[in-house]
Amino acid sequence: MNNASKRYEKKYNIVTFGCQMNKADSERMAGVLEHMGFKAADDPNVADLVLYNTCTIRDNAEQKVYSYLGKQAKRKHQQPDLTLVVAGCVAQQEGEKLLRRVPELDLVMGPQHANRLEDLLQQVFDGNQVVATDPIQIFEDITKPRRDSDVTAWVNIIYGCNERCSYCVVPNVRGVEQSRTPQAIKAEIEDLSRQGYKEITLLGQNIDAYGRDLPGSTPEGRHQHTLTDLLYYIHDISGIERLRFSTSHPRYFTERLIKACQELPNVCEHFHIPFQSGDNDILQAMKRGYTQEKYRRIIKTIREYMPDAAITADAIVGFPGETEAQFQNTLKLVEDLEFDLVNTAAYSPRPGTPAALWDNQLSEEEKSDRLQRLNRLVSVTAEARSQRYLGREVEVLVEAQNTKVPTQLLGRTRTNRLTFFPGKIEQLKGKTVKVKIQEIRAFSITGELIESR
Ligand code: SAH
Ligand code: SF4
Ligand code: F3S
Repeated sequence: MNNASKRYEKKYNIVTFGCQMNKADSERMAGVLEHMGFKAADDPNVADLVLYNTCTIRDNAEQKVYSYLGKQAKRKHQQPDLTLVVAGCVAQQEGEKLLRRVPELDLVMGPQHANRLEDLLQQVFDGNQVVATDPIQIFEDITKPRRDSDVTAWVNIIYGCNERCSYCVVPNVRGVEQSRTPQAIKAEIEDLSRQGYKEITLLGQNIDAYGRDLPGSTPEGRHQHTLTDLLYYIHDISGIERLRFSTSHPRYFTERLIKACQELPNVCEHFHIPFQSGDNDILQAMKRGYTQEKYRRIIKTIREYMPDAAITADAIVGFPGETEAQFQNTLKLVEDLEFDLVNTAAYSPRPGTPAALWDNQLSEEEKSDRLQRLNRLVSVTAEARSQRYLGREVEVLVEAQNTKVPTQLLGRTRTNRLTFFPGKIEQLKGKTVKVKIQEIRAFSITGELIESR
């Protein structure tokens, strides 16, 4: 091969630290970079451009990026044309301060600026050090994301969050709610269907708030464009077999939405509804706007309509002032409600949030002790929930080969249980197959293929 004739191609590497929204932003930024002629590199140490898409939901997420950055900053002294970018929520939170901490950085950009990456890099290549963290109206995507999967895709429907939960940085770093129009969302899903995608997950930090900022809302808070209306509007796009959405807020979750999910065959029986705490006084201090009784009613209603639905949630332990008895209320809620999965976290004080300033903080030992106790209970209930799959035939959408056991494929049930079974990816990728379940673990199940169509 004649190497001299091969055009030198610049390589990029993106490291993603955050939530699904953060991942979706990374896919869009990768799309921009490829549109600019960059090629993906698996190893950041050989890339000409390294982009860290950061998360600051808890302190340990934030600290991760500093340790990664140190290494690349050193490399830049040997390779001055290396471009270093910090994007995402830490970038938004820290802004200019990041440049002082790591002067080797070329670009610091908040999540609202993800679609502007090309323009911002142009300024960098013109010799500037750039900080882009001012609040802006998010423009519709002009480039195509480079998606990690070619079977399932994320589609943002609302950016930002207008809630003010007293522990949470998201409203500070993601800005106010901005809903995309139903037409733009439908057009994106139609395009995904043409590319062969089978499953769509609609994304929003508070997805039930979808549409309330679009024209057509009334002062009383009623609006024409709710999540429920959107589900009806996009339901019948041919080729799309499954629709999901996340994250739901108990304060806004409606029975009308539950009915729609039952009625619309492509909407999957899985709901992710964080409760955060099982204690009403803590919920109030968190400014969540619902009680544990209301949360229980929502779950009960879902189970009335869809007895087999999977329910997952998030919870925080060790919120400022949480007593042992209040923590017990969280344990009780988890014991009673039979969750399929609960993502748990010890409370972490975040800059710019009210709860971080309170003087009733718990010790790290107490928080981690409660976290361990809750985690033990969660794995017991998750495993008990998994039991219902034993011997059952489930529908699985085949996503990929299992990298750890290459003879196995992996996919998900409609209820979002990770499922493994033997098979060949060339034959089954993107297909919906029937799998008979023979083995149960807390968070995944294994079986054998009995039918593919
Ligand atoms: N919008 C979603 C969740 C966003 S953040 C909602 O309203 O539920 C994802 C999860 O991180 C939260 O559900 C919460 O459980 C956790 N989290 C957020 N801030 C936190 C903090 N300061 N300390 C610990 N966990 C936190
Ligand atoms: Fe944070 Fe509350 Fe908004 Fe969720 S709803 S992103 S927890 S402020
Ligand atoms: Fe983290 Fe930002 Fe998501 S703080 S959880 S990446 S919205």
